[in-house]
Amino acid sequence: MKRIFFLIIVFFASIVLKADDGMWIPLLLKGYTIADMQKKGFKLTAEDIYSINHASLKDAVVIFGRGCTGGIISNKGLLLTNHHCGYSAIHSQSTMEHNYLEEGFWAMSMQEELPIEGLSVRFLDFIEDVTGKVLADVKPDDNELVRKAKIQKVIEQLRDQYGKNDFTEVTVKPFYYGNQYFMYVYKVYRDIRLVGAPPSSIGKFGGDTDNWMWPRHTGDFSIFRVYTDRNNQPADYSKDNVPLQPKKSLRISLQGIKEGDFTMVMGFPGRTKENIPSVAVKSITQIQNPAGIMLRNLKLTEMRNYMDANPAMKLKYAAKYASVANYWKKWIGENKGLYTVGAIAQKQAYEKSFSDWATSEKRKNYKDILPAYEQIYGNLNPLLKVTTYLNEGLLAVELIKFINRFAQELNNFQNASKEEQESFKETFLTMVRKFYKNFDYELDFNIYKKMIKAYHNNIKGSARFSFFGSVKTDASLPKEAIETYSKSLFADSLKVIQALKEMNTHSPEIFEKDPLFEFYTQMQSYYRQEIRPKIKKYNAKLDSLSRIYMAAQMEFEKTKHFYPDANFTMRVAYGNVKGFEPRDGVIYKYNTRLKGVIEKEDSTVYDYQVSDKLKEIYLKKDFGRYGDNGKMPVCFIATNHTTGGNSGSPVFNANGNLIGLNFDRNWEGTMSDIYYDMSLCRNIALDIRYFLFIVDKFAGDKRLIEEMQFVE
Ligand code: ARG
Ligand code: GLU
Repeated sequence: MKRIFFLIIVFFASIVLKADDGMWIPLLLKGYTIADMQKKGFKLTAEDIYSINHASLKDAVVIFGRGCTGGIISNKGLLLTNHHCGYSAIHSQSTMEHNYLEEGFWAMSMQEELPIEGLSVRFLDFIEDVTGKVLADVKPDDNELVRKAKIQKVIEQLRDQYGKNDFTEVTVKPFYYGNQYFMYVYKVYRDIRLVGAPPSSIGKFGGDTDNWMWPRHTGDFSIFRVYTDRNNQPADYSKDNVPLQPKKSLRISLQGIKEGDFTMVMGFPGRTKENIPSVAVKSITQIQNPAGIMLRNLKLTEMRNYMDANPAMKLKYAAKYASVANYWKKWIGENKGLYTVGAIAQKQAYEKSFSDWATSEKRKNYKDILPAYEQIYGNLNPLLKVTTYLNEGLLAVELIKFINRFAQELNNFQNASKEEQESFKETFLTMVRKFYKNFDYELDFNIYKKMIKAYHNNIKGSARFSFFGSVKTDASLPKEAIETYSKSLFADSLKVIQALKEMNTHSPEIFEKDPLFEFYTQMQSYYRQEIRPKIKKYNAKLDSLSRIYMAAQMEFEKTKHFYPDANFTMRVAYGNVKGFEPRDGVIYKYNTRLKGVIEKEDSTVYDYQVSDKLKEIYLKKDFGRYGDNGKMPVCFIATNHTTGGNSGSPVFNANGNLIGLNFDRNWEGTMSDIYYDMSLCRNIALDIRYFLFIVDKFAGDKRLIEEMQFVE
């Protein structure tokens, strides 16, 4: 009896522990998910989160740019996202004279808000389960190609049917590896203006040193505004446009946060792989991540040398450096975490019991799944390694990557009619000028040399293309290899522009005969002929295998509630505010405060500068209604399951009011894309009160505070 009782407790305890991971589809919360949320403290209903009949939270959670989330925080279309999400927009407006990255930017009136070309925001109209439609014609024995084609046809039809105009976007995506399909219909807004951004010493405080780490003190936010035409409809930029009147704007809580509080994150997580087999985890941790880490390290070291020596270089390369450093560091953390928890062994143990079950149930097709994975990865791994060396190595050379785009434009140009060619040329020239604006020849040349060597040293045998025939020793590069870069026309922007302008008088040969262009062409055709077809073949096999494995796992664990892997569609994650124990003898608290910013200050280190103004306010303790018993909150952590794309996601309390802005995960928990461990994985959020404090007390942009709605 006692033993049974004990087992029951363990059983329930494990369910409770497990239940914290998950990224749920807003349309499908009714039933298990909302009940579980309410049990854990959530006070609202599924309809309050997602409804097509009345305004709900989903109407205020948007896709910002290409890969972030944002939240609408006023009924004049004010949008809150991360500083690192607005980074390239802020960067695009910065010059050495007005360096908004360094100094911050605050529009003190709507007239001062800065339109950002190319930036867009997507509002989710509705979600529909289209599994039945998409799979209607698919037969169980269709091969992968036939299946794909049939599915694509239906998706096209859905796009035609729902894609009313230029400002509507329809995406249909597979869930559970193609066992289900959902359609997401968006309204796209293209007049987006920069409203405010703190200086990097706040918005990026801690920089790449603190990135992916807790305890954190980054004021990672920036503010934009969505503009529409006079009828509140999406429109391209016009000076006559007016602020959006949104269906819903978020209410901001000033009530504070304590450990254990219920939290919910809504946003657009990009990609997770929770249900992959152990061989896939091995491929990531032993092949792809190590190669990616090593190659990015080469690039970063080189960039840092130049950036540290020269402030103009620092500005030029700021955005590029941040983006390369981000996943470089993430992969290191991910690998570490997966080793710490023994993810491969854990998966193997799971696979053993799965196989035993499949055998005992006499499910032959299920029994063959894992050996089939093993075989595919045996073939795929060397190809993935080469792909990493191409993408993270050779294509990490900016000029080579640029030629990649250039070649496409050149092709478009050649295929255009005579009349079209003139306007084509203009966009072509703009693209070229934009590239060279933030390009440094010497730095890139050094990276080129390093990457050629890395490829030469690590990729052997048939995976080398003819260029590498001339590279023989490990020690130094032959003259030809050096000249491929140094004698290239592309090294000189003026020559490229001149040649482009004259393109009608002579053929594109001047580009195509260029040594670096030829190198690129060789690399490209090698990839297209030798690598891509094979990868495609194995990926098709993986697609069908994963679909079966997913369905099989659901059958194997009948009582478990599976959530689909992230695929950049809107999801809901929930959990609670909670510290953690990263390792024996160390306990991390759930929150940080302004005091910690002051403690971290180091005027000799770029990442830890603190402005005099901030210090002054700190000393005066002028925190207004944003302080918490005389202390100024900065960040907090919680157990919400998030990933890349969740940056800028609103974090809600039990009443659906805004308490934070998601921006990162902890180092020990970056593995959660592959393996979520409840005791270690945390999302990191900015405390909403720090955002308000900076806008109000630091920047003095009170008009913005007046637009917002508070819950005291
Ligand atoms: N790690 C966060 C995310 O994945 C923040 C990145 C900001 N970039 C940086 N290099 N500090 O996007
Ligand atoms: N910073 C990430 C982003 O840009 C979110 C952090 C994560 O990957 O969880 O989406």
